[in-house]
Amino acid sequence: MNAQKVILDCDPGIDDSLAIMLALSCPEIDVVGITIVCGNVPVSKGVQNACKVLDWMGRTDIPVYKGEEKPLVRPYVDAMDTHGKDGLGQSGFPVPSGCTVKDNAVAYLESVFTTQKDVSVIALGPLTNLERLLERNRAAFCNIRELISMGGTYKSHGNCSPVAEYNYWCDPDAAAHVYTAFSSLPELKDKFIHMVGLDVTRKIVLTPNILEYMKNVNPSLGQKIEAITRFYFDFHWKQEGVIGCVLNDPLAVAYFADRSLCHGFTTYTAVETTGISYGQTLCDAFQIWNQLHNSKVLTQVDTKKFMMLFLCRVLGAQPDQASKVLDQILVGEVLA
Ligand code: RIB
Ligand code: CA
Repeated sequence: MNAQKVILDCDPGIDDSLAIMLALSCPEIDVVGITIVCGNVPVSKGVQNACKVLDWMGRTDIPVYKGEEKPLVRPYVDAMDTHGKDGLGQSGFPVPSGCTVKDNAVAYLESVFTTQKDVSVIALGPLTNLERLLERNRAAFCNIRELISMGGTYKSHGNCSPVAEYNYWCDPDAAAHVYTAFSSLPELKDKFIHMVGLDVTRKIVLTPNILEYMKNVNPSLGQKIEAITRFYFDFHWKQEGVIGCVLNDPLAVAYFADRSLCHGFTTYTAVETTGISYGQTLCDAFQIWNQLHNSKVLTQVDTKKFMMLFLCRVLGAQPDQASKVLDQILVGEVLA
């Protein structure tokens, strides 16, 4: 199989970091660059965390670009309460020296998409960088081969308000412009935003038992994953009464690599930008507004298949053993 060229646009961030690890472990994916956007943590910390993960994975050859430092309109609100002040669960890992860090992520995106039509974007944070590309060079933006976005929610409750998910709540104007482009620009009429929202990501929970298995299979990476998720576990227990942590961003990467992991429906989705429900994604499943479809909203996920992919690709688990262990662990757990 030919690996598909991908740019990861992200805000690392604990789950972003696990997503980067997965992307670098998938033969279906060729990560050509990483662009950082303000989100979970300020861009400067996001850049440092991306470098840490690239160093762990032996991929400091991949360039990291500094992106937008604040949302289009709204004041910037980070998520350090969830990801820790360092953005990696206050794990204190050192920033490596060997990474290639450059400025101006939007100029990089423009340079790639002005000349190439075979590169996709997996967006794991607010859509601010992508919206700035749309503003700056519409033709380049429309050359994005596929856009997978972890964000939004269809029927599941929000995580920043009763109805809004963080990535689109943090910068609702950027999300609204990007979704509107996919329903209005003729160049994008046959393309959709693959919306990997909370409806599916909430079903992907890294539990203490799965973490124990990770450490047995691959002590080095398993211990790093434990170190960066401890803070995230505590947050999930306090905030949502969940034992473990939800792996939002890794599912977007896994879905890019294996589309059979998730199913959903195409529809028109709008993003609210004002009032009490700003950041909400309104998925018009019953075609009330009769607008052109701009999104594929994912609603079902094969949780065991995701965990198998993550454990085997990232940690190097043997498939038969991983399947047996997951069957033992998942019985009666939140993923069952
Ligand atoms: O709402 C979850 C999303 O917001 C994830 O991408 C997480 O990393 C944060 O960016
Ligand atoms: Ca993220």
